[in-house]
Amino acid sequence: MAKRLGILTSGGDCPGLNAVIRGAVLKGDSVYGQEFVGFLDGWKGLVEGNAMPLDRRSVRGLSNQGGTILGTSRVGPYREPDGGAENIKRRMKQLGIDGVIAIGGEGTASAAKRLFEDGVNIVGVPKTIDNDLAATDYTFGFSTAVEIATEAIDRLRTTGNSHKRCMVLEVMGRHAGWIALFSGIAGGAHAILIPEQPETLDQICEWVRSVVHRGRAPMVVVAEGFKFPDMDEAHSTKGLDGFNRPRLGGIADVLAPLIEEETGIETRATVLGHIQRGGAPSAFDRVLATRLGMAVTDLIADEGWGQMVALHGTTIARVDFADALANLKTVPAESYQDYRQLFG
Ligand code: F6P
Repeated sequence: MAKRLGILTSGGDCPGLNAVIRGAVLKGDSVYGQEFVGFLDGWKGLVEGNAMPLDRRSVRGLSNQGGTILGTSRVGPYREPDGGAENIKRRMKQLGIDGVIAIGGEGTASAAKRLFEDGVNIVGVPKTIDNDLAATDYTFGFSTAVEIATEAIDRLRTTGNSHKRCMVLEVMGRHAGWIALFSGIAGGAHAILIPEQPETLDQICEWVRSVVHRGRAPMVVVAEGFKFPDMDEAHSTKGLDGFNRPRLGGIADVLAPLIEEETGIETRATVLGHIQRGGAPSAFDRVLATRLGMAVTDLIADEGWGQMVALHGTTIARVDFADALANLKTVPAESYQDYRQLFG
């Protein structure tokens, strides 16, 4: 019998979310006769039973649109008083929903795993600009964020060159350095600082000085989760997010004055922030998101509850939530050391 599904997007938004929704609704409808509703604002919509109809017409022209038409939040599904698996099962029955498609990152996948273990029919689609989910080779949103960060580096370099300044760009990524590494390489940065590999201020200043000695303006890319060797935790002064994780950001504003003080080279910091998450997805992200959206309808047709779709190499695979959450996918030391030979 054809199924009726509820789609939700949870956690930080990410370019490509709308393309997943479109891919799922179009294929689900035409191949399996599945019907869809969209829960509004993440788990909150599921818990409160706040849903909008999602038919072919409502997903028209969506693949190039940034953000999510469903809205998102970092509110978990177990939040009292209406959350929890039993309430959610009751709510799904009330709305005639056979299963849930949760599109989200690590926080969303762990909530989905718990709900599945508590008997909720649920499947997942991984998303995050951070590219830090071990179960999938790439997440959609990452390519777009890298493009935006690379453009920022290109722009900072022309102003840095004009003033002969050291420019420091901070990018997102939480505890993974993928955005910093990829954009830094693409933009020809002279130093790339990532959470996985602490570097001393002395080393960073040595790179900066050597660039200046060659008559060039240094470009430093720093990931928001970067730590000096004496730091236990990443720089965080903004409290916790809705999943109780420290909100990161601002390390560039710490680093730039230190470089200036140590080297005497005028230095400016730019924190790129949410610009990396906004706007239209890249073509790569649109294609990947559409493929994952289509593949999740196959997963549902096969009753693959408790699993999510993922990219392995160039093919779409299926993985259990538990495997997806086993490890954070961070930048391997060898690949950082390899690129590090180009710094300075
Ligand atoms: O996980 C995506 C991400 O953009 C991280 O790179 C960043 O640390 C965080 O979300 C920012 O979250 P918020 O949108 O809640 O400020």
